[in-house]
Amino acid sequence: MNVLLPQEFLYQLKQANPIETVMSAYVHLVQAGSLLKCCCPFHSEKTPSCMVYAGTQDPHFYCFGCHAGGDVITFLMKIEGLPYMEAVERLAQNAGLPMPQQADDHGESRRRSRLLELNRCAAQFYYKQLCGEDKRGLQYLAERKITPQIIKKFGLGYADGRWDGLQKAMGAEGFTDEELIDANLCSRSRKNDGVYDRFRNRVIFPIFDLRGSVIAFGGRTIEADGEPKYLNSSDTPVFKKGRNLFAMQFAKKSQSKRMILAEGYMDVISIHQAGFENVVASLGTALTPEQCRLMRQYCQEVVIAYDSDTAGRSATAKAVNLLRAVGIQPRILHMKDAKDPDEYIKKFGAGQFRLLLEEADDAVKYALEHCKDGIDVTAVDGKITMMQKAVSVLADVENDMQREIYLSDLAKQQEIDPAVLKEQVAREIRMRRGREKKQAWRAAVNQPLMRDPVNPTAVGKRKSAKAEELILCYLFRHPDAMEEIAQQITPQQFVTELYSRAYGVYLREMPKLSAFTFSIFSEDFTPDEMGVLTGISARYEEIDVSHASVYDAIDVLRNQNDTPQESADTLSDADFRAIFDRKRKQKG
Ligand code: GTP
Ligand code: MN
Repeated sequence: MNVLLPQEFLYQLKQANPIETVMSAYVHLVQAGSLLKCCCPFHSEKTPSCMVYAGTQDPHFYCFGCHAGGDVITFLMKIEGLPYMEAVERLAQNAGLPMPQQADDHGESRRRSRLLELNRCAAQFYYKQLCGEDKRGLQYLAERKITPQIIKKFGLGYADGRWDGLQKAMGAEGFTDEELIDANLCSRSRKNDGVYDRFRNRVIFPIFDLRGSVIAFGGRTIEADGEPKYLNSSDTPVFKKGRNLFAMQFAKKSQSKRMILAEGYMDVISIHQAGFENVVASLGTALTPEQCRLMRQYCQEVVIAYDSDTAGRSATAKAVNLLRAVGIQPRILHMKDAKDPDEYIKKFGAGQFRLLLEEADDAVKYALEHCKDGIDVTAVDGKITMMQKAVSVLADVENDMQREIYLSDLAKQQEIDPAVLKEQVAREIRMRRGREKKQAWRAAVNQPLMRDPVNPTAVGKRKSAKAEELILCYLFRHPDAMEEIAQQITPQQFVTELYSRAYGVYLREMPKLSAFTFSIFSEDFTPDEMGVLTGISARYEEIDVSHASVYDAIDVLRNQNDTPQESADTLSDADFRAIFDRKRKQKG
């Protein structure tokens, strides 16, 4: 760190990469008054609380839910997991801006772009192989009824039986063995220290990110007893499994409010080929919250089309919970006489599959039907256990009307007095609320003891921390007051480490600039710290911080040893402001 890019360059960089343009590759932005907002890509939530202050003098984002925030550079760092310099380089590349001299030749970033280039070349190589002399790959895909158009669209390929086919070809393109290993395309041989191709005798599925770069590969064996059936890239510097979804580059473009979630590559391809382009799959792992948040940006409803076996069923139950947590309405596909969507479409055709989609159960109905799994409901005990499970499912339903409908259906079906069932469900809901309240109360009571992981020195010094926030907030809005305030208080007099450092950087950088921007911090502060700093501005947005209250805050810092600190722990920002105002009135 501390390469200190010229502010002039950073200014151009941000001009050329508007935050809303960069963000909209990853999130679905909607207008909210003068701001844009989206569901936060960094934590799971049902309603949008991530605000984007675009088109302002200092474009930035801030999530009121998880306190993520910062400028366009911070956003890219967080969402792609990139170090500062690489995020800058990527934005520069986007805009065709040359990097300033001193930042040239940044090793890590060059490594990443080399890997992406290698992946692209490898995908091309596999694609060419498919149509080469050895036709076994093409034959396999033809047997599985995949059309040439779809092969082309997905960029499918073939790796023949050679141990060095890819390695030789990529070597000729100037890629080293180390790079091939980094990309997880080759492995090192234990015998002679040479390297060999990982993918052999397989059809190849390239995996793309949202921007259309090839980031990884999956390969299915074409041999009857080939092991493993599927081979996937493990994590590399350009690929993190739980972060991407197969075929998302197509699904995000389909205008549907609904997405189909399948288990594997072949299911996605079959469903896509049947005319449903809004289909994705998690990549050889269980579905992650991150993947759900990604889907949430583009749809409101997800039809889970997992395999119809036991494993698929338990994966479905987990997916339902994860999807609900991000506010997606889950639906569940019921397949009969086929083990997966690929087989279903082959057997019954695209038309039948469409019907299946339309009849997809919502998750409540599905869960109710599975309450009796593994239970002997002919016995009274069994029936009671099943009903207890059903009560819990019904208590999960947030919408009253919806709950009422399921409840009366179930009562009829089980020949139970609906009033009794209703009372049971109501009691379950009351109990849960009670439990939640207790937890919330405990959390509130324990709060002053909790550590602030981003600004640890603020614990037990909330009053000073608030005073510092007020000063910083004022300075963000009134850079012209910098000299005056700098004479009143030094960074060393700031009590909390984070704010002291921020104030120091502010005093160092602002003289070089004509207007304030959060970007003066993005090089020296981590994305988490950026979130806290941006949060100061966002949280005080409605509050008009006056010149006089800044002087009160300075007083607080100067006299910090005279006043007890802990009492301010439970105060909100507004409470705290009120204290300053009172103090001022007393003085005046
Ligand atoms: P086909 O037999 O080609 O139709 O595949 P499928 O999609 O029906 O396969 P299956 O239901 O067995 O697996 C679903 C997904 O799980 C695949 O697409 C892979 O992503 C993953 N998977 C399956 N088998 C393996 C394996 O042996 N190793 C790994 N790493 N992943 C696998
Ligand atoms: Mn299959």
